[in-house]
Amino acid sequence: MKIIRTPEAMQKHALDLKRTGRSIGGVPTMGFLHEGHVSLMRLARAQCDVLVVSIFVNPTQFGPNEDLKTYPRDFSRDESLCEQAGVDLLFYPEPTAMYAADASSWIDEASLSGGLCGATRPGHFRGVCTVVAKLFNLMQLDIAVFGEKDAQQLRIIERMVRDLNFPVNILRGPIVREPDGLAMSSRNKYLSAEQREAALCLRRSLDNVEEQFAAGERNTAVLRQTVVDWIASVPGAELDYIEVVDDRSLAAVETIESDTLVALAVKFGAVRLIDNAVLCRSP
Ligand code: PAJ
Repeated sequence: MKIIRTPEAMQKHALDLKRTGRSIGGVPTMGFLHEGHVSLMRLARAQCDVLVVSIFVNPTQFGPNEDLKTYPRDFSRDESLCEQAGVDLLFYPEPTAMYAADASSWIDEASLSGGLCGATRPGHFRGVCTVVAKLFNLMQLDIAVFGEKDAQQLRIIERMVRDLNFPVNILRGPIVREPDGLAMSSRNKYLSAEQREAALCLRRSLDNVEEQFAAGERNTAVLRQTVVDWIASVPGAELDYIEVVDDRSLAAVETIESDTLVALAVKFGAVRLIDNAVLCRSP
């Protein structure tokens, strides 16, 4: 596995590979890798000649009061996980190398980004879209895999790729969970033992919504209230949002008539976790 540290070297290497006719698959990440990330690497590995993973804690997607400085990092562990997953190229740019000091060009997806996480993290998806577009340009990906864990992010990236004609095929990777149901996340590391236990409320409240949906409930106010009540009963859990939205437009839905995304964010002290489920009209 080759480690590349500069954007210039990454782009040159990728363009050279392209000229030899090889297909490039990639998984953009912020590191502190876990089985969720590795599952995306496996999906990509099966569909490309050369597998590239990027590790970059992107400053432009963090708000001023968010956890950019304390975001967990462990490069040597990440490196061995990538090696084991059959990664060919690991792009690990210096934090200062990715943005010029006077960088002033941004990608702003203007429809799907406003609600859900976008409402409580203004500017977040502008930072995500911009860095993902930069990574596509640097890594020259034919396919890129993103996780369903970040459902809104995935849909926004798909929209950006469609709207701006990026020659990249986006694949969706299912959410990977701990045995007790907690969605794997780099931020789980920050949970105390009590918070770790409390964090099960995300998956459990989604289970509850799915059960009600299976039993015929279609009124989203009822489904949302279930989650509000559930989270309120969990000590140390503070609901950031629970939204029930159309799976394509991410617009709020009153009565479920087509595929619907249920997404929530819950804070445990300073740690904010997200999870989601899709309610399908026809299973
Ligand atoms: P990061 O949080 O490191 O996640 C990288 C990729 O792994 C994303 O596509 C995310 O959805 C996926 N992922 C995380 N946890 C997962 C899980 N439990 N199961 C399946 N997939 C999971 O998302 C980002 O980084 C950044 O915003 C990035 C796209 C790299 C841009 O900076």
